[in-house]
Amino acid sequence: MSAEVIYGKQLAEELRQEMKKEVSELHKHNIHPKLVVVIIGQDPASMSYVKGKQRASEKIGLDSELMELPESTSEKELLDLIDQLNQDQTVHGILVQLPLPNHIEDQKVIEAINPEKDVDGFHPINVGRLLTGQETFYPCTPYGIMVMLKRANITIEGKHVVIIGRSNLVGKPVGQLLLNENATVTHCHSRTKNLRDHTKQADILIVAAGKAGLISGDDIEEGTIVIDVGVNRVDGKLTGDVDFESASEKASHITPVPKGVGPMTITMLLHNTIKAAKRIHN
Ligand code: GUN
Repeated sequence: MSAEVIYGKQLAEELRQEMKKEVSELHKHNIHPKLVVVIIGQDPASMSYVKGKQRASEKIGLDSELMELPESTSEKELLDLIDQLNQDQTVHGILVQLPLPNHIEDQKVIEAINPEKDVDGFHPINVGRLLTGQETFYPCTPYGIMVMLKRANITIEGKHVVIIGRSNLVGKPVGQLLLNENATVTHCHSRTKNLRDHTKQADILIVAAGKAGLISGDDIEEGTIVIDVGVNRVDGKLTGDVDFESASEKASHITPVPKGVGPMTITMLLHNTIKAAKRIHN
């Protein structure tokens, strides 16, 4: 079997065109969705991510502000800034790029953001809403994966989904979204024994471990749907956690890296920002 490749990039383009029209409609009603992205320090990978977020926001007509603060910013200064942004009625979405420098506690900052402006979906209130099956802001990468599966006409109900990775950003929330849609979910992680015994059982395999080449064709059965969330640099080249060549010979569907899940993450951030603006004005 040769897998159908699910290109998130193409779907992201389509969705962004739709969002651009939606933003332009909102402008007619004097609603100007605005996203503020805060970055502390100069980490090149993080800088590149946030610039991408800002560019994508502007392209669909969102108001967007990038706040670049020095590495020396104290936790109190950052919390004060978040407080100001929480109170600013023109700001609908707040994203503080993670990870933060060691002297600032990530969780404290996440919890300071007004849950109604938490377009990352990381605040415990939004995590709790997701856990209890309520409508909320869903974390962008997991949400993007759900949209990709649906647009590829993949049925989720009753499927056995095996997830490798248990981060708060991807592994845990994607498992919860899938469970909410009646999948049977297995979480694997770095301490899982005999990983292949699990991956061979998967109807849908989601790999978010951050280890290049962790999964190959030998680890899956014929007809598995493979979603690769890995972003690794190997010899300067962007690569996922899955060996695409061998896995695509057995999978029924597979996402590539790059042009797979990545572009969907930013797209869902844009979606969440529009949703935040519509919520406030409704
Ligand atoms: N760092 C890497 N990915 C993300 C993300 O989705 N949101 C935030 N805030 N920081 C990140």
